[in-house]
Amino acid sequence: MTRFPPSPSRSCARPSRGSSGGRPLEEVFASFEHEPVAAASIAQVHAAVLRSGEEVVVKVQRPNIAALVRHDLAVMSYLAPLLVGRIPVAVLANPPALIQLFAETIVEELDFRLEAENMLDIAKVLAVTAQRAIIVPRPHPRLVTPRVLVMERVSGFAWDDVSGMRAAGIDTEAVLRAGVVSFLEGAMLFGVFHGDLHGGNLFVLPDGRTALLDFGITGRLDEERRRAFLRLVMGGTVNDVRAQVEALQELGALRKDADVDQVIRDLGLDGAPQDVTQLTAEELTAQLRDLTKQLLAYGARMPKELMLFVKDILFLDGAVSSFAPDVDLLGEVAGIAAYFASRHGGRISEEIGFDPREQEVDLNGVRASLGVSADTERISYRELQARREEVRKKFE
Ligand SMILES: Nc1ncnc2c1ncn2[C@@H]1O[C@H](COP(=O)(O)OP(=O)(O)O)[C@@H](O)[C@H]1O
Ligand SMILES: [Mg+2]
Repeated sequence: MTRFPPSPSRSCARPSRGSSGGRPLEEVFASFEHEPVAAASIAQVHAAVLRSGEEVVVKVQRPNIAALVRHDLAVMSYLAPLLVGRIPVAVLANPPALIQLFAETIVEELDFRLEAENMLDIAKVLAVTAQRAIIVPRPHPRLVTPRVLVMERVSGFAWDDVSGMRAAGIDTEAVLRAGVVSFLEGAMLFGVFHGDLHGGNLFVLPDGRTALLDFGITGRLDEERRRAFLRLVMGGTVNDVRAQVEALQELGALRKDADVDQVIRDLGLDGAPQDVTQLTAEELTAQLRDLTKQLLAYGARMPKELMLFVKDILFLDGAVSSFAPDVDLLGEVAGIAAYFASRHGGRISEEIGFDPREQEVDLNGVRASLGVSADTERISYRELQARREEVRKKFE
């Protein structure tokens, strides 16, 4: 007879051991589809219906995965230090921290009870911030074990089915905006965010809400780092370069003894934003070379805590190209800054002594990071992409 938790299907059939003992499947589920709806690297996911009638999915960890991961980790932690110093830029990416991060997150990923806790933590943030456009499936309180996770089933458009969403009347710009806002709220105000955003971990429901899936990797910032991060982002909205460099230093991105004023001078962070397409290939190469050299001299490296964040940002950046290619990016940033000021101004001011309600938004820092000049009033992702392409060609 089939038991619950079920053993993964044929491809890796081996009865699961050490999980919740095993009740007959029929006792827990009214129906259970043995053919998985999805088979990923760590787990496979089955659709099922509880005896209460609730539609759920059952995420079952593959057997032996823990042993495989431990082996991979041992190999990687051996290799990481060897990479450092071979290729200078590799230091900026900080391979040992990358491995440590991977080790920490994978250990969490291998225990579905922790994943269920992550789901509840993020759901709490969404509730507290009254963010109704994002949902998290509810894990079933009594059907979670280290290797089996039963949760509410959701369905909707695959993340890359943008045309399907538009045809169904979904405002894809609003979908993305809500995602960015709630992501920032989680990270800046609560120190917790989904740490593995990619197309396979998101559905867009027919009503335009987004379901987040897969909380095996969840980003966390401790209180000190969260506040530093909050200062970093708020500094960005008013182009306060000093506040940003100090925040980066606190986050461990720069050596503690680096002189902030000198960093600002050396990296030319206080100048007006520059139109990068106006630079020649030689100028671009020279700038990149100098920048790398100086960053290395200042002991710059990507702090472990921000790696997941940056990875998510890259995903969201890519999503703009399909969800909102023609939206004015500067206007969006201003809008999101205004939202944080009006919604969370009091709390932000209390926490970091900077009151966004009393400050004029200054987007020159944003312009500088987009590589457009100070007189740029608006720029869409489409235009930005064309410019990036132009610059890329010069590098060749
Ligand atoms: N609550 C859910 N409802 C519907 N489908 C789900 C749900 N959770 C996961 N899935 C499906 O299973 C796939 C794998 O689940 P996921 O949690 O991302 O596992 P993994 O950690 O192995 O990537 C998802 O991409 C999605 O297609
Ligand atoms: Mg996944």
